[in-house]
Amino acid sequence: MHNHVLASAPSKVILFGEHAVVYGEPAIAIALNLRTSVMIEESSEYSVDGKPLDEKYHKYIKTAIQMLWDGKPLEIITASVVPSASGMGSSASITVAMVSGLLAMKGKVNEREVALKSFEVEYATQGSGSPIDTSTVTHGKGILVLNSPEEKLLWSVKKGNTEWHIHHLELPKLKLVVGFSGIKGHTPEMVKKVRRFYNWNSFARDVIKEIGKITLRAIEPLENEDYEEIGKLMNENNKLLTILGVGHPMLKKMIDASLKHSYGAKITGAGGGGCMIALTDEQDEVVREIEAVGGKAYKVEISEEGYTIENHL
Ligand code: PMV
Repeated sequence: MHNHVLASAPSKVILFGEHAVVYGEPAIAIALNLRTSVMIEESSEYSVDGKPLDEKYHKYIKTAIQMLWDGKPLEIITASVVPSASGMGSSASITVAMVSGLLAMKGKVNEREVALKSFEVEYATQGSGSPIDTSTVTHGKGILVLNSPEEKLLWSVKKGNTEWHIHHLELPKLKLVVGFSGIKGHTPEMVKKVRRFYNWNSFARDVIKEIGKITLRAIEPLENEDYEEIGKLMNENNKLLTILGVGHPMLKKMIDASLKHSYGAKITGAGGGGCMIALTDEQDEVVREIEAVGGKAYKVEISEEGYTIENHL
């Protein structure tokens, strides 16, 4: 038992398979070195960054407390360099930081428990989605989501009829640039939009399956550092995401601009705004191209570290 902890979690990008993963198709995601931290301390009343805990502004924090905490009120201080936009997993990052912190306040923590509880908190808050974001942010490095357990299985998650098996994925040091459109994407709305298309149209179901196949085709080139091939597959994945209706004119502008200096580029995350990613050898050039069309660009690296806990304040 500790009466205070400092917990942190990285952010993430999905390299392949967003939206398709909601239907149990394979997907690949990596953790990024932009982190969220929370300092949690027992107190006389609940507060977040000096303000009362509020359902509207602190949705994930509130759900995590409701689901995991029955002790004294808590004072929470947050710090984050993750842009609060659909695509970089800011909600998963705050959720995993909070969940790991609360579990550490109660006793021992392990990675599997943090991942599973964080998915429950995110799902309860958003009402939809897959465990890809929370699992990536918990584990760090790279993960591969498959519909059956294979070598390097970390944990499995079930919701309704869908089961996801989360695996560790060894990845090279990818040079990536994330471009933020400045338009906040709404993940639950985009997931619902794709769901309507999927339920109504067998063509949409085929597109989702095709995205799953692209993800599987990407595993070998990722292992072999075949950037040309990874880039081609990113471009293919992007076309299919656009067909699903999750594109946005600003995302298209940034993707087109980045392709001059990239192996490939695509929407990342839920789309409809939010972010794109480009794989490149020339990060500075790509940053310039994205900013020239009005986006905000981040040079990013894989985070080896998932969640961290410190309680020696
Ligand atoms: O927009 P983000 O970063 O929350 O990513 C969502 C990924 C989806 O596949 C669209 C939804 C999900 O929960 O898997």
